[in-house]
Amino acid sequence: MKNYIKHDPWCIIEEGFHPEFNEVTESLMSLGNGRMGQRGSFEETYSGASLQGNYIAGVWFPDKTKVGWWKNGYPNYFAKVINAINWNGLSIQIDGIELDLATCEIISFWRTLNMKDGTLKRVCTVKMENGHELTIESVRFCSMSHDEAAVLSYSITPLNFAGTAKITAFLDGDVSNKDSNHGEKFWEEVDKEIVGTEAYLTLKTKESPWENVPRFTITSGMHVKLFKAEKVQEVQSLPVRGDKYVGRTFEVDLTTNIKTTVQKYVCNLSSENHAPESQVAVAKKYLNEIAHLGFEVLLGDHKKAWEEKWNHNDIKINGDIAAQQGIRFNIFHLEQTYTGKDARLNIGPKGFTGEKYGGVTYWDTEAYCIPFYLATAPEEVSKNLLVYRHNQLQKAIENASILGFNNGAALYPMVTMNGEECHNEWEITFEEIHRNGAIAYAIYDYINYTGDKSYLKDYGLDVLIGISRFWAQRVNWSEDKKKYVMLGVTGPNEYENNVNNNWYTNYMAQWTLKYTLEALAYVKENGGVKAELNFDEAAETKHWQDIIEKMYFPYDAGRQVFLQQDGFLDKELLAATDIEEHRPINQKWSWDRILRSCFIKQADVLQGMYFHEDDFSKEELERNFDFYEPMTVHESSLSPCVHTILACKLGRIEKADEMYVRTARLDLDDYNNDTEDGLHITSMAGTWMAVVKGFGGMRVKDGELSFNPVLPGSWESYSFRVGFQGVLKEVTVNKDGYEVKDL
Ligand code: BGC
Repeated sequence: MKNYIKHDPWCIIEEGFHPEFNEVTESLMSLGNGRMGQRGSFEETYSGASLQGNYIAGVWFPDKTKVGWWKNGYPNYFAKVINAINWNGLSIQIDGIELDLATCEIISFWRTLNMKDGTLKRVCTVKMENGHELTIESVRFCSMSHDEAAVLSYSITPLNFAGTAKITAFLDGDVSNKDSNHGEKFWEEVDKEIVGTEAYLTLKTKESPWENVPRFTITSGMHVKLFKAEKVQEVQSLPVRGDKYVGRTFEVDLTTNIKTTVQKYVCNLSSENHAPESQVAVAKKYLNEIAHLGFEVLLGDHKKAWEEKWNHNDIKINGDIAAQQGIRFNIFHLEQTYTGKDARLNIGPKGFTGEKYGGVTYWDTEAYCIPFYLATAPEEVSKNLLVYRHNQLQKAIENASILGFNNGAALYPMVTMNGEECHNEWEITFEEIHRNGAIAYAIYDYINYTGDKSYLKDYGLDVLIGISRFWAQRVNWSEDKKKYVMLGVTGPNEYENNVNNNWYTNYMAQWTLKYTLEALAYVKENGGVKAELNFDEAAETKHWQDIIEKMYFPYDAGRQVFLQQDGFLDKELLAATDIEEHRPINQKWSWDRILRSCFIKQADVLQGMYFHEDDFSKEELERNFDFYEPMTVHESSLSPCVHTILACKLGRIEKADEMYVRTARLDLDDYNNDTEDGLHITSMAGTWMAVVKGFGGMRVKDGELSFNPVLPGSWESYSFRVGFQGVLKEVTVNKDGYEVKDL
């Protein structure tokens, strides 16, 4: 755990440079606007540890699979959102020496992510090797109001010298992914152009051996303005060209105590939104417009867009500044990652903050993110997330057929960009099939919250039928048990593989079948089932009904708890507190030892009880919580939030508090020692749920919104806002009770 970020209600502040944590800070201070994003790296050259990362939403490459032992059914490639053109780069030589903080003495340093404004600022004073002292001030943002634009203002003020600076402002596309499977670079150059103080760079993703994989073209453009003492400067400058690189070098006289500022106006376009052949022309026009608007106007528009977002989704916590900072940090990053304007996009577990998980879609979206967007954004935003899966239904059917299923059975991938499976560990790719259940559940969740039942007719039923067909083929009849069983699966707890009858998966399968029958009844009454689904109503529904009635669920009658899987009680049952010094077990134990142990990575049985809380009594929940939570090591970021919600339901506020702190400041305090890889974006939505559904007790049932709030021990009061069926509501909770206001 790290504790170097200053506590502040609106800002993430690094005071004094911590080079040893630079990659962590780069993740924390990432910027984005739904269309693009980048890590919070320095603009000028930095030779210390750093992971440069610039990403454009939806732009990916099929990196060749790397596995030790090939298994039939593995996907050929792993789609990953790739590092794109570094647009904020500057190279600064002062009197012949490169400005590089790794070689300077740092006199003072602040790097601040302002979450209210969506800006990243740095103010630092340094002494270069030659004794020159200077102050750097930089501000940059990815515009929320002009989502293909980004802007940087970077100033240098010499403090004890006058001299010459050579400042090269550049666009660098000669970049790679640290996680590239075979050390390959993914871009080839198409075009570059330098016109006056503007430059354009166009790249295309390399050809790949796989059919039907799109190739993406991106164009970045920059327009540079130079100021001295805030007056525009017309100075001599030279074009610089390199492999996938364009720049402009300005030679500037530096005067003691006078500020020299470089402004970079940038646009990042992709062939997802513009025809490749016209991209440069579009970039020129767009850049012209934004450069003409100028820094202050663009910043003003950007701040206004953020103000609107905060107006809708802010959570205020009084009496605990660390908790306040934590929750805003989570909301801020979710808003930067996905804006819901485009149904082709989704939410990678690391968003735009790092490479891990390849920026691709997981079940995290349906199980964790959708509730956040349902309550904090217009209905279309979560609808677009559902439509994304609807658009990929055909691929999910192909994916299932590769594995031997038929008749329109759909298995959605564990990880995907375009609907094709990209994961290639057999125990997950083939076995972690519970993801299908979360995708069905999200349809229910959306309709329950919005009341938009018409979704079933146009989209929802197609997906539900595909998933139900899969479950119906994936179970088999056990003559021994006289029940339907599901063999060889991995549940949400990935510390168990290839188990039989994972209670959660069986429950989700049975629930999906029931819900599909309900959906079917509704669609039949409201227009009828689409012919192209080839739905054999009599035979299919009869079979589903039989499975619903005869599904097997492992149960321990003695303890009266559901069993995570067959044979669970054969394990040595220990508590996570018994192995404190061995944690995290995923870093300290062999996989063999993990698999044989009772320790649980994340909510599994409890995930099911969370989704379907009305199916269980409080006593049942209590018994299962008391059995499973002590064995849970919470080594997935998705775990503590579900436990917070359940603990609140059970009135265990201290436990809820303990779990909440882990989720809210997971990245800020780097609990799992992995923030340098990027932030846990999808679990941030879980943190929001922990406040709103956990402490706030928000529920929607039969079209009614209700709250049942509790106040965590260390908070004086808190308030949150949710939109429900067109009305924005504010809930305020304090020691005297709570109030719900329509705004
Ligand atoms: C979790 C999965 C999750 C994935 C991406 C894993 O560690 O066990 O449930 O989907 O991370 O967040």
